[in-house]
Amino acid sequence: MKAVAVFPHTREVKFIEQEAPRVTEPDHVKVRVLEVGICGTDKEICSFEYGTPPEGSDCLVIGHEALGEVIEVGPAVNKVKVGDLVEPTVRRHCSHPACNPCRAGYPDFCTTGDYTERGIKGLHGFMTEQVVDHERYLHVVPPELRNVGVLTEPLTIAEKAGTQVRHILDRLPWLAHYLQEQAMQHNATAVVLGAGPVGLLGAMKLLQTGFETCVYALPPAPNPGSDIVEAIGGTYYSQGRIPPETQQELFGHIHLIYEATGVSSLAFEMLNLLAPNSIFVMTGVPSLKGAIEVDADLLMRNIVLKNQLVLGTVNASAEDFDTAIKDIGIFRQRWPHALQAIITSRVAPEDAPDLLLGKSSGIKNVISFDTSARTTHRE
Ligand code: BGC
Repeated sequence: MKAVAVFPHTREVKFIEQEAPRVTEPDHVKVRVLEVGICGTDKEICSFEYGTPPEGSDCLVIGHEALGEVIEVGPAVNKVKVGDLVEPTVRRHCSHPACNPCRAGYPDFCTTGDYTERGIKGLHGFMTEQVVDHERYLHVVPPELRNVGVLTEPLTIAEKAGTQVRHILDRLPWLAHYLQEQAMQHNATAVVLGAGPVGLLGAMKLLQTGFETCVYALPPAPNPGSDIVEAIGGTYYSQGRIPPETQQELFGHIHLIYEATGVSSLAFEMLNLLAPNSIFVMTGVPSLKGAIEVDADLLMRNIVLKNQLVLGTVNASAEDFDTAIKDIGIFRQRWPHALQAIITSRVAPEDAPDLLLGKSSGIKNVISFDTSARTTHRE
């Protein structure tokens, strides 16, 4: 069985052959992998900055954004059946009895750091022909989402952030009701930093919730990301093309900033512009390149005097996966072309090492194990 694996000791990324997994437990489900999305985390793993192979293995099979088809189920499986399309979650709980989040089924809030993540930390991932997992980690995707279901995992990041923000808004009693029902009724505004898949899916979620949304990203418009932003009813601003005086005017009244770049200098520059009582959500994981200079007094002064909130969020719960699958369906109805346009290419697994190591272009590149779905050109 083919797989794409990273060998940290020899610093190699290779296309390998490995044995097919077997159903050995009653609640096991065997899945034929159809597609796996490539993200920044995969690229970091392939540049050996991140990622840990399973104990006793010299390599890590990567891939954590997967869509597959169920091909075999154990005798205790009752929620998924052969033929279903499924999306697996990424993180698995730690084993410490005292980790309350993990014990309660929320490993995305694990406090010990001993969680594992498929394709990232301590467990092989999904960039292979078949995988076996427990039923509880699989979420059924409706067949009509076959072409876009692989976008579920990057959307779960916005879904978890959305869940957190809804809880947080309870602190503002005069606002909470409007924003929870429909942000539109309160002229709520949001800025998304970055026009990669996480940023664009986050913008879709914000627009769907009723936020007036703009996306602030590096490439000058027009580009594939800015086209998507305009198509979904957002506004695209190119970073570097807006003088600092105008920045305050454009972004100074913002209720929510959704950061999806992992560029800390940009994040802290924008944090300075955050309006009173607003929330800054950080989702990007910067690589540790050394300290940067920030005006910490100004930031702290603003955060306190303006009742601001900075929220970090990682991974997602089972509920967030279910909501993401529903929302992908809604986005597909509302913006069919824009949603599809997030997927730039579908390439053979043999091409994965080049994509992971080279400077891949486009928005979301997908490894397709399904020959009929492949395309090497923009869709
Ligand atoms: C993945 C998350 C994971 C995080 C940290 C992200 O790329 O989408 O599932 O928790 O990396 O490893």
